[in-house]
Amino acid sequence: MRRHWQKKPLLVRGAIAGFKPLLSRAELFRLAANEEVESRLIVKNTNREGAAWRMKSGPFALRGLPPISKPGWTLLVQGVDGHHDGVHQLLQQFRFVPDARLDDVMISFATPGGGVGPHFDSYDVFLFQASGRRRWKISQQKDLTLQAGVPLKILQTFEPAQEFVLDAGDMLYLPPRYAHEGVAEASVDSYGKAQDCMTYSIGFKAPVQSELTAELLHKLAEFGEDEDADVSGSGPKKMYRDPGQAATPHPAELPAALITFASDAVRHALKDPLALACALGEVMTAPKAQVWFEQTGADWDGSASVQSLMLDAKTRMMYDANHVFINGESYRAKGRDAQLMHLLADQRALPASTWAKASSGALALLGDWYAEGWLHFVV
Ligand code: SIN
Ligand code: CO
Repeated sequence: MRRHWQKKPLLVRGAIAGFKPLLSRAELFRLAANEEVESRLIVKNTNREGAAWRMKSGPFALRGLPPISKPGWTLLVQGVDGHHDGVHQLLQQFRFVPDARLDDVMISFATPGGGVGPHFDSYDVFLFQASGRRRWKISQQKDLTLQAGVPLKILQTFEPAQEFVLDAGDMLYLPPRYAHEGVAEASVDSYGKAQDCMTYSIGFKAPVQSELTAELLHKLAEFGEDEDADVSGSGPKKMYRDPGQAATPHPAELPAALITFASDAVRHALKDPLALACALGEVMTAPKAQVWFEQTGADWDGSASVQSLMLDAKTRMMYDANHVFINGESYRAKGRDAQLMHLLADQRALPASTWAKASSGALALLGDWYAEGWLHFVV
């Protein structure tokens, strides 16, 4: 983290000793056929003018994919950690970075010559070669102009400065906006059997200031509406009033009092010092649009005391000094219950011996989350 994170690339040979691919090509293709899973197919055709790219979004029926014998195509499957336990476990190994920065694991399969072209990503990425071989070319170039009129992000000019061939188990870290291109190469194992080129991209995300502002203000406004409703039931909302307004010769001019009303409104939304942190936690843990939990609907009263608890792979849980956040919801938490919830969020699991000591309020919450499908029992 000190030397490389957000600063410079890092090549790690044999990053995970004795690594075995977590899912087969057939399993990956099955995920790409699932409409709840985001996938893309990229086909590269080289003609006289250079490379031409075609991109299609999934889901893909098996017959919708090009034949394995055809070179130069790649299938990218996003968010595999939400659908596969082993891949979810792999993502846990990258939790030396805060959860708020972790995004997902994307898995690519490529036939020889396949790749997504020279490009840059806006976020940090660990490119882990799970099987087969891929040649990476990378460059710290300043010119990040993209080609116009192509269906994917391709750099207009790419001047590779370094080149690495990654074999199964090797990993390359790239900071944001570092130009790169990975091209699949044919490879065989020690028995001469052809190996699929599969790359797992452990991807991160970082909020963009303007987008975060919009999301936070939206949340804060919602909190304000709840507050109005609490105080006065269905009573009137705080509305701009101007009994002192004089007749104006400049009807188009914004009244100064309205500008004051607007700035008071924003200040009011930020008045509670905990509100912003609360909104931030709710935003950071909100599930992505395509995420669904399987509700158990079952009640749980905390009496099943011999089992441990485990968060669902899709659950996002975080905390700050005053709150616990889970899947876009926030709770005030203090003392022993807060400690317990912090443990659950950090370890994503709780042994029975630990949660047995929780207050009835905390147990009721765990019960609600269980009913929502946000956590499970492990026998
Ligand atoms: C790939 O796996 O082919 C693409 C990963 C990337 O370049 O970000
Ligand atoms: Co990339």
